Amino acid sequence: MLNILVCVSGGGTNLQAVIDAVKDGRIRNTRIAGVISNNRSAYALKRAEENGIDAVCLSPKEFSDREAFNRAFLEKVNEYAPDLIVLAGFLVNIPPEMIRAYPNRIINIHPSLIPSFCGTGYYGLKVHEAALARGVKVTGATVHFVDEGTDTGPILLQKSVDVQPDDTPKSLQQRVMEEAEWILLPKAIDLIAAGRVEVVDGKAVIR
Ligand code: GAR
Repeated sequence: MLNILVCVSGGGTNLQAVIDAVKDGRIRNTRIAGVISNNRSAYALKRAEENGIDAVCLSPKEFSDREAFNRAFLEKVNEYAPDLIVLAGFLVNIPPEMIRAYPNRIINIHPSLIPSFCGTGYYGLKVHEAALARGVKVTGATVHFVDEGTDTGPILLQKSVDVQPDDTPKSLQQRVMEEAEWILLPKAIDLIAAGRVEVVDGKAVIR
């Protein structure tokens, strides 16, 4: 049984996709041990609560400095003893100590086809604003392992989504979620739970 911990910051639609997929069997052999949010008013916390999942809020604002937050964050994560940490719209930089403690055991969903529109400053709606400003005709989403860079870790899964001529950042964001993110994230977790993913020479390999 794969024990997963999901980290969230906002609406939690990706968390919901994972919860639903565990319930209906698209994600097999997996248990959601807990949810951590950095934002007390994140709707994702309500989704966890409604589904009987242990949820806590740890906000950097409530700590004297970043080191103190990072220490508390790692301690809290360790309490859940996760096999896999899933960043589902989590907008806090993962401390390097945590990346070292969980090598190739943290995955993130990003709302573009990496290496486009990713890295520092590209998150949430900003990603879709940038894609529309550049005039790309295809965008999508990526699930990747987390390393010490921003959106630089091994790519596990990607799915493309066509941009429509009348798209706004909001409409594009919604379609990327529906057509890519909510499908890819459960699929990635299921593959990992089945032991089918390995990182070889810095690249994710699916067997
Ligand atoms: C999702 O689109 C996710 O890909 C994005 O934030 C949104 C969270 O939505 N993540 C990033 O931009 C990370 N760089 P949700 O809270 O409804 O799942």
